[in-house]
Amino acid sequence: MTGIAVLGSTNMDLVAYVARAPGRGETVTGREFRTIPGGKGANQAVAAARAGAEVVMIGAVGDDAYGVTLRAGLEHSGVRTDLLRTAQGPSGTAHIVVDDEGGNAIVVIPGANATMTTLGPGETAAIAAADLLLLQLELPLPAVVEGAQAARAQGVRTILTPSPVQLLPDELLDCVGVLVPNEHEAAALTGVGDPRAAAAVLLRHVPEVVITLGARGCLYAGRGGEPVLFPAPEVTAVDTTGAGDTFVGTLAVALGEGRPVPEALAWASSAAALCVQRPGASTSMPYRGEIDAV
Ligand code: RIB
Repeated sequence: MTGIAVLGSTNMDLVAYVARAPGRGETVTGREFRTIPGGKGANQAVAAARAGAEVVMIGAVGDDAYGVTLRAGLEHSGVRTDLLRTAQGPSGTAHIVVDDEGGNAIVVIPGANATMTTLGPGETAAIAAADLLLLQLELPLPAVVEGAQAARAQGVRTILTPSPVQLLPDELLDCVGVLVPNEHEAAALTGVGDPRAAAAVLLRHVPEVVITLGARGCLYAGRGGEPVLFPAPEVTAVDTTGAGDTFVGTLAVALGEGRPVPEALAWASSAAALCVQRPGASTSMPYRGEIDAV
């Protein structure tokens, strides 16, 4: 079984479902409110565990009721949480508006995630023992860099989701095997709007890039080959929250199992397509059998 370490955030998602997101200074009446376990790190951990990997989550929840629920949610999906710290203070929260087209806007308040400034020996050892490390940017950057360097020191393949997007230091990029931005993040990182051109820029820093393009699928680029577009299954989205995390968590499992890249990308796209047809982040992530059945 593929062993995956996830170093990342856990958030309680506070989700308002509304026909249309309000503009500045505007009040709109929504349809429904839900609290759903999320956080880019926890989402990727859940997606990978449900897709069939042995997953350990490294991060922090708060010592509040949300923290208890977030930990239990991970465990329910089979994710190891013995390295998930409980920090004093509130858990991270994400304030999400989902519109009738399934699109979202998110404000994250880091809470306990912000306490993860450095790693302990147990956390570093778990990363070193994994087949793959999954990173995002909702934890303080020094911890992300430390985790990436611990992985590289042991030859552990690292997949980085550069979200929320920020300038990526060379010391981090030097450790990344696969960079998976969405098209907006790719444009922000490179200053180039066209995904193919952005991929070419990113390949100067990392060996493989997958730019996710939402309903259009994803663009894969590796050094020494032309970028290839992989279309996504056609579905009607009700909530795209966590689709990118589902894609990455599932992709990691497939790559860890040694599947060829085209097959891995198709499998991850199927998982993301299932995710967007259901509400919520971690709650919408498919299990292996469902993905295989697409
Ligand atoms: O990628 C989706 C996630 O982003 C949400 O679950 C939310 O918690 C934010 O971190």
